[in-house]
Amino acid sequence: MDLTVSVLLATFITSVLALFVFIASMAKGLFDSGGAAAVQIFDEDELGTVEDPAATRAQRGSLQQAMDPSHARTQRSAQEVATRLRADQSSSLVVGVCLTMAVVWLVLASVAGLVASIKLHAPDWWVSQAWLTFGRIRPIHLNLVAYGWCSMAGIGVALWLIPRLLKTELVGAKYALVGGALWALGVAAGTVALALGYSDGLEWLEYPWQIDILLVIGGALVGFPLWLTLLRRRVAHLYVSVWYIGAGLLWFPVLFLVANWPALHFGVQQATMNWWFGHNVLGLWFTPLALAASYYFIPKVLGKPIYSYNLSLLGFWSLAFFYSQVGGHHLIGGPVPSWLITISIVQSMMMVVPVVAVAINQHFTVLGNFRALLYSPTLRFIVLGAMFYTAASVQGSLQALRSVNTVTHFTHYTVAHAHLGLYGFYTMVMFGSIYFIMPRVMKWEWPYPWMISAHFWLVLSGFAVYFIGLSFGGWYQGLAMLNKDIPFMNSMTLTLPYLQARSVGGALMTLGHLVFAAHFFMMGWKFGPKRLGAALLKTPFASGAYATAAAPQPGLSTQTRGGEA
Ligand code: HEM
Ligand code: HEM
Repeated sequence: MDLTVSVLLATFITSVLALFVFIASMAKGLFDSGGAAAVQIFDEDELGTVEDPAATRAQRGSLQQAMDPSHARTQRSAQEVATRLRADQSSSLVVGVCLTMAVVWLVLASVAGLVASIKLHAPDWWVSQAWLTFGRIRPIHLNLVAYGWCSMAGIGVALWLIPRLLKTELVGAKYALVGGALWALGVAAGTVALALGYSDGLEWLEYPWQIDILLVIGGALVGFPLWLTLLRRRVAHLYVSVWYIGAGLLWFPVLFLVANWPALHFGVQQATMNWWFGHNVLGLWFTPLALAASYYFIPKVLGKPIYSYNLSLLGFWSLAFFYSQVGGHHLIGGPVPSWLITISIVQSMMMVVPVVAVAINQHFTVLGNFRALLYSPTLRFIVLGAMFYTAASVQGSLQALRSVNTVTHFTHYTVAHAHLGLYGFYTMVMFGSIYFIMPRVMKWEWPYPWMISAHFWLVLSGFAVYFIGLSFGGWYQGLAMLNKDIPFMNSMTLTLPYLQARSVGGALMTLGHLVFAAHFFMMGWKFGPKRLGAALLKTPFASGAYATAAAPQPGLSTQTRGGEA
C-alpha cells in the first residue's frame, strides 16, 4: 500500500471514528443545548405562530388555522421587534444588490441553457457565430448558473440570515459589497472570455485562472462579515444554519483556490482534482447554503422548532466528515486507480447518514402541517426543495454504484440528476428564501400573487418534463450504448424525442424565470399596488376569527405591512 492510499484510508477511518465519537458525545449529553438552540430563531412568544412575509394579520390567521388553530398570536416585545428590524436593515443594501445580480444571471443562464438544449436536437441552428456553438454556450450556461445565479443567490440569502441568526446587526457589510462586486465582475468577465473561446478546459473550472482571482478575493470578502458579526453576536448558541453558512463560506475559497492554481496538477491527477472540486463545490458550497436556509425558513414560517436539533448537528458533522472524498465517483470506469474510485463509492454510500438526518428533520417538521403549503410561497418552494434534496441524494448514492454508473455515465441521465440537485433542490430553496427576504429588504410587498403562482407552476411543470424525459431518455441511451448489437448512432438518435421534451420543459422553466424576474424588478421599482399583504398563494377564507383575536404588534403601526418583522 503506497502513501497516498494509506492517507486516504486513514482519512476514511478517521471520518468513521469521528462520527462514532460525535454520536457518543451526543448520547452523553455533551450537546445538551439542543432544545434551547432549536428555539433560538424565535423571539419570545413567537413560538407556535406562523410567519409569512407577505401576509396581513388576517391572512396569517388563515395560515395559522391551517397549522394550529388553537394557538393565537401573543404580543411580542417592542424591543425584540426593533432588534430584528435593525438586523434586517443592516444587511438590506448588500442583500438587495446580491439578489438583484443573481436574478439577472438566472435569466441569462436560462436563455443560454435553452439555446444549448435546442442545439442538441437541431445542431444546424445558429452555427454561423462561434460564440453560439454548443462548445461555448454550454460552459456559459453552467458557469452562469453555478457562479452567477446559485452562488450570488446563496451569498445574498446567507448575508441576510447571519444578522437574524446572531440577533445583531451585520458588521462589515461594506466588505461584502466590494466582494459581491468583484464576484459579479468575475462572472461577467468569465462569460465574455468563454464566449470568445478562452477556457481552462476543465468542467466547473472553465473561467481562465486570471479571472478566477476575482472570485477568490470576492468569495473571501463576502465571508468576512460573518466572522466580524460572530464577534458581536447576542445569542448563546449558534443555530445549525450558522454552522452550515460558516462552513460553506470557509470551504469555497479554499476549494476554488486549490482547484484553480495554475500549473499545479497534471494528467490523471488533474482529472482527479477536477472532480474533487466538481463534487465538493456542490456538497460543501451550494448544499450547506441551501440547507442553512431551509433549516431557518421551514420552522420560522411554521412557527415550530425543527423536529430534532441534535439530529441536525449530526447531519452537519457527517456531511463535513464524508463529503470531501466523493468526487471520484465521477470518474468510474476512467483511467484512475480503482482504489480511489472505491473509496469515493464507499463515501457516497456513507452520505446516506447526513441525508437521512436532514430528511427526517425537515420532513417530520412539516408533517401534519401540509395545508400551510396552500398559502405560503416560501414554504411551498422550500418544502418542495427539501423533498428534491432527499430524492437527488438517494439517486446520487445509487448512481455512484458501479453497476448503475456503467449504464448512466456519459448519458443524459446524469444531466437529469444534475438538475434535480441544483435546480429541484437548490434553486427551489433559493426561490422560497427570496420570497421571504425581499419584502423585508425593500419594505414593499410582492405586488401580484398570481405571478408567484405562475412562477411556481411554470417552473414545476417545466422541471417535471425536463427531469422525467431526460431520465428515461438517458437510461435507454445507456442501455443502447452497452448493447453491442446496436450501432452507436442509434443510441444517439433514440434520445431525440427526449431531448426535444427537455427543450419544451426548459422553455417553461425559462418562462417561469422571466415571470419571476419581472415580478422581482416590479417590486424593486415599487411598481404595482401598495399592498398590506395578499401575496399568499391562496385567498384565505377563515381569517375573520383570527383577525379579531390578533392583537396589534407593539412597535409597528396597524398600517405596517404584516411582513415587516
Ligand atoms: C448523497 C448525495 C449525492 C451523491 C452520492 C451524488 C452522486 C452523483 C454521481 C454518482 C454523479 C454522476 C457522475 C457521473 O457518472 O458522471 C453525480 C452528478 C452530479 N450531481 Fe450528484 N450526488 C449527490 C447529491 C447531489 C446534490 C445534492 C446535488 C446538487 C446540489 C448534486 C449535483 C450533481 C451534479 C450537478 C452532477 C453533474 C456533474 C457534472 O457532470 O457536471 N448531486 N452525482
Ligand atoms: C437555475 C437553473 C438551472 C440550473 C441550476 C442548471 C444547472 C445545470 C448543470 C449543473 C449542468 C451540468 C450538467 C452535467 O454536466 O451533468 C447543466 C447543463 C445543461 N443545462 Fe442546465 N440548469 C438550469 C437551467 C436550465 C434550463 C432552463 C435549461 C433549458 C433547457 C437547461 C439546459 C441545460 C443543458 C442543455 C445542459 C447541457 C447538457 C449536456 O451537456 O448534455 N438548464 N445545467
